[in-house]
Amino acid sequence: MEFETIIEPFKIKSVEPLPITEPKERLEALKREHWNIFGLKSQEVTIDLLTDSGTGSMSSEQWASLMRGDESYAGSQSWQRFEEVVTELTGYKYIIPTHQGRASERILASVMLKEGNVIPSNSHFDTTRANIEFTGSEARDLLCEEGLDLLKPSPFKGNVDLEKLEKTLSEEKENIPFVLMTVTNNTGGGQPVSMGNLKAVRELCDKYGIPLFLDACRFAENSWFIHKREKGYESVEIREIAKEIFRLSDGCTISLKKDGFGNIGGFIGINDDEVAAECKNLLILTEGFPTYGGLAGRDLDALAQGLKEITDKSYLEYRTKSIAYLADKATEYGIPVVQPAGGHALYLDAKTFLPHIPPHEYPGQAIVCEMYLLGGIRCAEIGTFAFGVHNEDRPDTPAPNELVRLASPRRTYTQSHFDYVGEVLKAMAERKDKLGGYKITEQSQFLRHFTAKLEPV
Ligand code: F0G
Repeated sequence: MEFETIIEPFKIKSVEPLPITEPKERLEALKREHWNIFGLKSQEVTIDLLTDSGTGSMSSEQWASLMRGDESYAGSQSWQRFEEVVTELTGYKYIIPTHQGRASERILASVMLKEGNVIPSNSHFDTTRANIEFTGSEARDLLCEEGLDLLKPSPFKGNVDLEKLEKTLSEEKENIPFVLMTVTNNTGGGQPVSMGNLKAVRELCDKYGIPLFLDACRFAENSWFIHKREKGYESVEIREIAKEIFRLSDGCTISLKKDGFGNIGGFIGINDDEVAAECKNLLILTEGFPTYGGLAGRDLDALAQGLKEITDKSYLEYRTKSIAYLADKATEYGIPVVQPAGGHALYLDAKTFLPHIPPHEYPGQAIVCEMYLLGGIRCAEIGTFAFGVHNEDRPDTPAPNELVRLASPRRTYTQSHFDYVGEVLKAMAERKDKLGGYKITEQSQFLRHFTAKLEPV
């Protein structure tokens, strides 16, 4: 018999109190922080959906593995255990540990890129783009048509447009040090890439003699969607799918704060001897010796354990189902969401939902503030407030989309927490006509959304 309740495939061993606040306190906190939720203290937030990065819960086995941590500077046993698990999973010749994803990106970009290079991708994540652009190269997104249509469901909206990719490779191959595929595509709604697409990209890369890299942060969620949605993978184990994905590539950068079940950590995986040697040299300069790379031995042990757990079928089922459940609730309340629901977050389409607020008055931020005021829920604007361009003499140049992301920390919240988020979404939707826009009163030149001050229009 099939039952409908989404049960967490774990029980709770250690608990952390959830801050319950009064509406008046929340209003005061938001005013104090000039309507920017990044300024809030965690004890002012009831359900924190700001990010799924480093915010997950470790298992009892992970906590136990911390005690096994070997803090030797070089050649620690923790490193050996980490390397063994990562090598089994990915098959790369070299594994270079780092403290998080962007450290991997910075090192790889510094070694492989030079001014004027082009890095084609399905979609670059912000930090990847920034690290590529920092070298004077271009980060070029070539997302498939379906991926660009937010509200239309399609199984693999993270796919790269193969025609555009081939055109780019054939015309600019001298300038392309590698192709980068982001699995899943965070920027485009946590949407997966199909194995078929990855295989086709591999073939194109072989045809033009260009290496293929992965931004593999959410490899397990991507593998899950392949298992559920792609013909021929219905009966293949998730871990085998993940192994196949990694083995289609020549290397990867990864943040283990996502599908590593870690609070910190990352690595570069690579097959090329020379690039690996140069990466290690840079690593020693900024991250640490190549057998710890900015991490404590105990972190490496917890990550090794996390990487064994992340491909568990019942976990991935609970995770993706609970996000789809929230997406269904939002849709029921008339809030348009990116379809289908992604692997790590629910994305609300603020532009369609609040047509009375123009992009330069940040409709996404209106939702973000209202979700906090109504229910103490913290989520993130990814629209013009975060990615628009400030102009001195006229309104901001808008971002392509006005989204709000409700990211789900791994193994952290339960079904009743999701029900609560659903209720707050409903209350927010009922007040949609009362929501108003915001204007920025102070902003920095780069990544303004982290620190900008706002006020209601
Ligand atoms: N690549 C992707 C696809 C990511 O989502 C992130 C981080 C990174 C790289 C960088 O990893 O944070 O460990 O340096 N995403 C977080 C988020 C911050 O909230 O989506 P990092």
